[in-house]
Amino acid sequence: MAAVYSGTDAALKSLTYQHILSVEQFTPDVLEALFALAQSMDRQVAFGRIDQLLASKVVANVFYEASTRTDLSFQSATQRLGGRVISTAGGVHYSSVTKGESLHDTIKTIACYSDAIVLRHPTRGSAREAAAASDALRLAMHSPTPIINAGDGTGEHPTQALLDLYTIKDRFGENIDGLTIGFLGDLRNGRTVHSLIKLLAIDHCHVKVVCVAPESLTMPSEYVEFARSRQMPVEETDDLQAAIGQMDVLYVTRVQRERFVAQQLDDLSASVYGMPYDSLDSPRKDALRPLAELNAAQEYLSARDAYVVDPMMLSQARKEMILLHPLPRVNEIPEEVDTDDRAYYFRQVQNCLYIRMALLAAVLDCLPL
Ligand code: NCD
Repeated sequence: MAAVYSGTDAALKSLTYQHILSVEQFTPDVLEALFALAQSMDRQVAFGRIDQLLASKVVANVFYEASTRTDLSFQSATQRLGGRVISTAGGVHYSSVTKGESLHDTIKTIACYSDAIVLRHPTRGSAREAAAASDALRLAMHSPTPIINAGDGTGEHPTQALLDLYTIKDRFGENIDGLTIGFLGDLRNGRTVHSLIKLLAIDHCHVKVVCVAPESLTMPSEYVEFARSRQMPVEETDDLQAAIGQMDVLYVTRVQRERFVAQQLDDLSASVYGMPYDSLDSPRKDALRPLAELNAAQEYLSARDAYVVDPMMLSQARKEMILLHPLPRVNEIPEEVDTDDRAYYFRQVQNCLYIRMALLAAVLDCLPL
């Protein structure tokens, strides 16, 4: 049964001109109000009658990493609400970043031309750094330019978690107490599951989480502890076959190949030189790279096929279970599964739009009257 929300504007007002950096900024009240607004955005898009809430607003999309859904759904959300989007042609690869410009200077510049900045960056903590740069400029500007974290390395992806929780409630109703939610795959590097496990705990959902991952890719303890400290039970296993039968939601993630080399470089640097990779000089950095790349390739190959949710695996799952995936997928869910009623990941893709429309309207102080 789909959820029906009745959020209040007062809760949403608390998001006005706030940077959106982590799910930790949200409260159950704000989530309820945001989901109510997202639901109304869904209806408006369906009936083709959309308020031009963002008319006169300019949103900058700044992506230092590849993206399809996040980039385009933020663009679509802005434009459907009557706003405009700017970005450098061809992404940051054609901006002055290639000339060595710092993140600070880049953000301060873009903040002069836009009302909000949607930022994706490969370094954990970069969204917070960008927020500090934007704040530093605040004094000189008429209004602050909020940063929306669209994924910071292996850190967080708060807007994805918002739409993931919205999708779960879309399917099971607003009260999801008693559900068992499985996270599968590369839980070490997947920022979407880092944000979602925290958000479930923040929303006081009385759910059980089961983390299924190979030993090398388990959920970092900081997230498990965050959930447990808020009375959310978390089990950890590497045995999908044994665990799948109890799940109401199975959230699948891909193995994040692009993160493996960086992790290997950090590990090798610590063991060979006893210092962080970033603080090494160039010759030492270069010396570590071939071995790091070799180790990363081996690690990826052994993890890549660890779990495949195919029809055989799904035959052991509940009939009412839903299968989520933030996408892109590689080989962890074969396309033949898409016609199974439990495949819910393209509904998740649609919800990207409604949640981001609602969030932009709230952050830019453009809520419907
Ligand atoms: C995810 C991301 O970028 O973290 N994708 C997305 O935003 N929908 C997941 C991934 O890259 O695997």
